[in-house]
Amino acid sequence: MELHTFKDYHSMSHAASDSMLRAVMSKPDAVICLATGHTPCLTYRLWVEKILQKNINVSNCFFIGLDEWVGIRADKEGTCHHFLYNYIFHPLHVPESNLHLFNPMSKNLEEECVQMNEIIHSRNGIDMITLGIGMNGHLGFNEPGASLYNDAHVVKLDATTQTVGQKYFATVQSISRGITIGLRQIMQSKKIIVLANGFGKAHIIKQALEGKISTSLPASLLRNCHQATCYIDEEAATLLRK
Ligand code: GLP
Repeated sequence: MELHTFKDYHSMSHAASDSMLRAVMSKPDAVICLATGHTPCLTYRLWVEKILQKNINVSNCFFIGLDEWVGIRADKEGTCHHFLYNYIFHPLHVPESNLHLFNPMSKNLEEECVQMNEIIHSRNGIDMITLGIGMNGHLGFNEPGASLYNDAHVVKLDATTQTVGQKYFATVQSISRGITIGLRQIMQSKKIIVLANGFGKAHIIKQALEGKISTSLPASLLRNCHQATCYIDEEAATLLRK
């Protein structure tokens, strides 16, 4: 994995959005998987702006959701659905036929996983994935201890994720389970962009980049991925060895 450190959140987001732009310019029918969360907000805003300004054709791209909170209506503010429509699908006018997200209210969540796996497989995998890092080192909802060999699956969220996840919602939610694509699908993605900013992420970034590479800290696994680039700001890099 390559590591790039930037002065601040803005310059980090600019660089990451440029990298995302190059990906859709070089592969106009790219399969794109996007994390939600606070970290990528500016990257996505800049990416969309640049696509529109430069008139880049993304009408043949296919978008898939990385993860979702189980049992919360998709249209509620705070869900991954709501985020992706707001930041990406509405501004880029992505038709429903060009996207697939997990249905968090499905009565058959296993079938949701099967469908997502089939879609990823039939499209020859993910061309570009943009990831954040959870406070416990998770990727998507691949929590500490997740298997390297997992495809899409339903997961019991750990205590940190349940607590931190409340920040996305206006009122307290019961968020005990998530649905996510698996570590295998993430690590097989052809281009991996991983983002982290702010002092709050400094500790987990140190562990992910300088600690043991292990499924007990899923983000550390990306160090074995030659196709991964990590973009962080100086605040997130504070604890790294110089
Ligand atoms: C969330 C999501 C992840 C996200 C991560 C970091 O719970 N499941 O996909 O990347 O945690 O979120 P944030 O960017 O808000 O720190």
